[in-house]
Amino acid sequence: MRKLAALALLIPLAAAAQMGGAMMNSPRHAYVMRHGVDPTYAQAHNPLEPSASNIEAGKSLYRLHCAVCHGDSGMGSEAGLELDPPVARLGGLSRQPIASDGFYDWVISEGGVPLRSAMPPFKNVLKQEDIWKIVLYLRTL
Ligand code: HEC
Repeated sequence: MRKLAALALLIPLAAAAQMGGAMMNSPRHAYVMRHGVDPTYAQAHNPLEPSASNIEAGKSLYRLHCAVCHGDSGMGSEAGLELDPPVARLGGLSRQPIASDGFYDWVISEGGVPLRSAMPPFKNVLKQEDIWKIVLYLRTL
């Protein structure tokens, strides 16, 4: 019986660990597990083609607005990793199930307000089209 109880405890832990390190160390992913993505953005769909020129434009915008915290490769700059909470890794994120267009659009537009993080809101800084270009670039990281 004791063994069974221990197993019952371990199984969900193992499952959570398998869902990827990001869920375990990103407060954002924990937030989404509890509340979902803001419904204003949840169904958003990137209308842009992942053409070389759109991705290149997204990369330039990323370098200008995001790399200071997220680093050139999306793994976090020195300053970004010192924030509390630290920057989340953007490299590899797009291959996780959470990374819908709506998720990216919400995070970039509204920033860290719901989490009280340093992630700035970009909805009044970037045109919607530029947000989508950045998303195309993030999907290459
Ligand atoms: C001032 C530092 C800072 C800047 C600039 C910044 N971010 Fe962030 N970002 C953060 C922090 C801190 C987090 C982690 C907390 C959170 O999710 O709000 C984060 C989280 C994220 C996440 C969520 C990733 C995940 O898996 O949880 C995405 C996506 C993101 N940022 C994209 C961007 C993009 C795109 C830009 C530029 C348009 C940008 N960030 C600019 C600090 C920054």
